[in-house]
Amino acid sequence: MEQTLSIIKPDAVKKGVIGKIIDRFESNNLRIAAIKKLQLTRCEAETFYAIHKERPFFKDLVDFMVSGPVVVMVLEGKNAVAKNRELMGATNPKEAAKGTIRADFADSIDANAVHGSDSLENAKNEIAFFFGAREIC
Ligand code: CMP
Repeated sequence: MEQTLSIIKPDAVKKGVIGKIIDRFESNNLRIAAIKKLQLTRCEAETFYAIHKERPFFKDLVDFMVSGPVVVMVLEGKNAVAKNRELMGATNPKEAAKGTIRADFADSIDANAVHGSDSLENAKNEIAFFFGAREIC
């Protein structure tokens, strides 16, 4: 069993597809071990995405992530990190495989509907960023 962090980004929250995205996870054996809706502060978004701070898209990414509420979740299941990334599809929705979350719900590489941890180590850090142990069931 693994755990990974998923974020439903402001574009998908605004579109009203939180339930449809959660259904993709639950229908594919990823259990919701923790969930909350929140508005990121600029400082929180900058810290969460600090690994990208030298990239040219960093400011746009942070601007977008604070543009509205997000839903953060801990997904749990067999090979959860890889499974979640498979369900999300490629970062750029134009390159995402048919039937993936980004192909179906995302508009652009910035407004790409979801974030998912890219490794088990990052998953542990990203989960700890948003959730205390008592919030994960
Ligand atoms: P995410 O998985 O949340 O991780 C970083 C985000 O930066 C990514 O999804 C995209 O939304 C955004 N981004 C914008 N431009 C790029 C790019 N050229 N390469 C990777 N990520 C990008």
